[in-house]
Amino acid sequence: MAQQVRGVIAPGKNEPVRVETIVIPDPGPGEAVVKIQACGVCHTDLHYKQGAINDEFPFLLGHEAAGVVEAVGEGVTDVEPGDFVVLNWRAVCGQCRACLRGRPWYCFDTHNAKQRMTLLDGTELSPALGIGAFAEKTLVASGQCTKVDPEVAPAVAGLLGCGVMAGIGAAINTGQVGRGDSVAVIGCGGVGDAAIAGARLAGAAKIIAVDIDDRKLETAKKMGATHTVNSRTQDPVEAIRALTGGNGADVVIEAVGRPETYKQAFYARDLAGTVVLVGVPTPEMQLELPLLDVFGRGGSLKSSWYGDCLPSRDFPMLIDLHQQGRIDLGAFVTETIGLGDIEQAFARMHDGDVLRSVVVF
Ligand code: APR
Ligand code: ZN
Ligand code: ZN
Repeated sequence: MAQQVRGVIAPGKNEPVRVETIVIPDPGPGEAVVKIQACGVCHTDLHYKQGAINDEFPFLLGHEAAGVVEAVGEGVTDVEPGDFVVLNWRAVCGQCRACLRGRPWYCFDTHNAKQRMTLLDGTELSPALGIGAFAEKTLVASGQCTKVDPEVAPAVAGLLGCGVMAGIGAAINTGQVGRGDSVAVIGCGGVGDAAIAGARLAGAAKIIAVDIDDRKLETAKKMGATHTVNSRTQDPVEAIRALTGGNGADVVIEAVGRPETYKQAFYARDLAGTVVLVGVPTPEMQLELPLLDVFGRGGSLKSSWYGDCLPSRDFPMLIDLHQQGRIDLGAFVTETIGLGDIEQAFARMHDGDVLRSVVVF
């Protein structure tokens, strides 16, 4: 039986979001209905509202979520009703070239649920990143559900569904930060701070946080930064080199997404160091570099997509480490809010002290 629940809709470009009744169909083959317990507010939700992702309004927002599987469709064996799960926006196919190369995080054929949720008048909803979890329940593909330790707080678990995983994964998966490494993180918002926490988890000896906002640098210290650089008052490349014996960092993680910070990341790496690009640029951005510097400095330049994560490997592992007190994912939850508070959360997103506002149900 289809059911009616409350969910947060972005009705049209830049229009305020609103809580509406939405219709959730029964799960079809390979699908699951999940009762959402918590869902974080991410910049991407705001970008959907602004029409910056696509114009398939109305959107059902929310994609950083944890909850309990309520029902599964035909053929679903990976999860069952009652399982506590974190949702992911990339259910990989296991068969495409990327999957077969052992890089499923680049899967060309992800299997998210088909868009079947609607408003009461039958209008089809586009779920944000194929999830749509600012809702009491949502419909996903079973491959979008990863079972984790049910003892963890849902507001903490849900964070792994997007930004926090992107940052931690940039350090541990893409950057392959190792014990004793020096790491610089440029841009200390939620993603950069998660990269800092990931670098600490991986055993980095030096973690240099770079931002233009001193309040962000204070938070970065709490996440594990050992040194901070305000790039409004100091040249960040010189400062990073000075802090690394004149060499540059073994791994530099860029979490802003602008040409000048890409360039800083490029020059702040040690010879043969690794640059990890997590910040997403806009289509018109360009970067010009002397080829001799590209050639001569060696090393590698990598972009990191969803932290190059494998949900089934990384979500349970990070939750276990959190439960053991070896990483504090709870530090990313600034406030818990209700379904009706998303507009205010969007407005507060750029405040110095908000890492994540999380809707709890
Ligand atoms: N140099 C250093 N830091 C900067 C600069 C700059 N020129 N410009 C902005 N910043 C800092 C901001 O002060 C802020 O702390 O970058 C941080 C960006 O943080 P958020 O806006 O909170 O963004 P976040 O959610 O962390 O995402 C960062 O990663 O996944 C991508 O799409 C995401 O491109 C975005 C980036
Ligand atoms: Zn694939
Ligand atoms: Zn997100």
